[in-house]
Amino acid sequence: MGRSSDKAAMQRAHFDGAAAIVTGAASGIGKALATELVRRGATVLVADIDSEGAQAVAADLRRHGGSGGQSQGGALAATLDVTDADAVAESVGIFATEHGGLDFMFNNAGIPVGGEVSDLSVAHWQRALDVNVMSVVHGVAAAYPRMIERGRGHIVNTASLAGLVPSPLLVPYSTTKHAVVGLSVGLRMEAAKHGVRVSVVCPGVIETPLLDKGNPADLPPATSTPDIRALLTELIGKPYPAASLARDVLDNVALNRPIIVAPRRAKAVWAAYRFSPRLLVDRSPKRVRSISR
Ligand SMILES: NC(=O)c1ccc[n+]([C@@H]2O[C@H](COP(=O)([O-])OP(=O)(O)OC[C@H]3O[C@@H](n4cnc5c(N)ncnc54)[C@H](O)[C@@H]3O)[C@@H](O)[C@H]2O)c1
Repeated sequence: MGRSSDKAAMQRAHFDGAAAIVTGAASGIGKALATELVRRGATVLVADIDSEGAQAVAADLRRHGGSGGQSQGGALAATLDVTDADAVAESVGIFATEHGGLDFMFNNAGIPVGGEVSDLSVAHWQRALDVNVMSVVHGVAAAYPRMIERGRGHIVNTASLAGLVPSPLLVPYSTTKHAVVGLSVGLRMEAAKHGVRVSVVCPGVIETPLLDKGNPADLPPATSTPDIRALLTELIGKPYPAASLARDVLDNVALNRPIIVAPRRAKAVWAAYRFSPRLLVDRSPKRVRSISR
C-alpha cells in the first residue's frame, strides 16, 4: 500500500464504530454527512426538527447503509429543535448513554436569513441568531462536558464561506456564520488541553434545498429577499454536490483540520479576500445590484 492509500484508509477507518450526532440531518449537507458517516462504520443519530424527514433518512440508512451498501454503521432518528437547549441536552444525554459516549457532535442545522438590512426587522436577526448560533452553543453545552470527561471527542460545526467572507443581501446569515467560526476556533484552542477536538466547516455553494429557500415564512416579508441560488452562483460559482462535500469534510475531520473550506472554488474566494479584502468588497456592489430583485 502506498502512502496516499494508507492516508485514505486511515481517513475511512477513523469513523468505524464511532457514535455521532448530526443535527439538521433530514436534508442537504446533514443528510450527506450522516450517510457518509454510516458508510464509514459510524452509528449516527439523525436529528432534525423535521421529524418525518429524520425518520425517513434513518430508515433509509438502516436499509441500505451509505451509498455502496457496505456499511457496518447504524442510524437512529430524533425529532430535535436545536433552538431548545434542554431538548438538545436530553437528546445528547440519551444517545451518549446508550452508546457508551459521544465521539462526534456535528452542529450542522441552519437556515438562511437575508434581504437588504434596511428591509429587515429585529425578528429576522433574532431568528438567525437562535437557529444558527444558539444551536451551536446548545450542542457545545451538551456535548463538550461529556467529551472532557472522556478526554476525547470531536465537535464539528457547520458555518459557511459566508462566515469567512462578508455576504451582501445575506448579512444576518453571514453575521451568524462569522460567530460560528469565532466560537469554533477559539473553543478549539481551549479544548486541546482536554483532548477534545473542534473543527469548523465553511462550505461554498452546495446543492441542497437551502438554495431555493427564502426567509422563514412566519417572519415579516422582506421585499429584497435574494434568490440565494442566483446570488451565490454569481458570487462564488456553480453548486457542488453535498455527497462530495461530506467526503471532503470527513477526510479533513479525520486529519483534525481546524477550518475546513470546500470546494476548491470556495478556498479561492477566501484566499482572494485574505489577499485583498478591498478588491472583493469594492467589486461586489455592482454585481450585487444586478442580482437584487
Ligand atoms: N447549501 C449551501 O450552499 C450551504 C453553504 C454553506 C453553509 N451551509 C450550511 O450548512 C448547513 C446545512 O444546510 P443545508 O444546505 O443542508 O440546508 P437544508 O435546508 O437542506 O437542511 C437544513 C436542515 O436543518 C433543519 N433545521 C432547520 N431548523 C432547525 C431547527 N431549529 N432544529 C433542527 N433542525 C433544523 C431543516 O429541517 C433541514 O433538514 C446550514 O448550517 C447552512 O447554513 C449551506
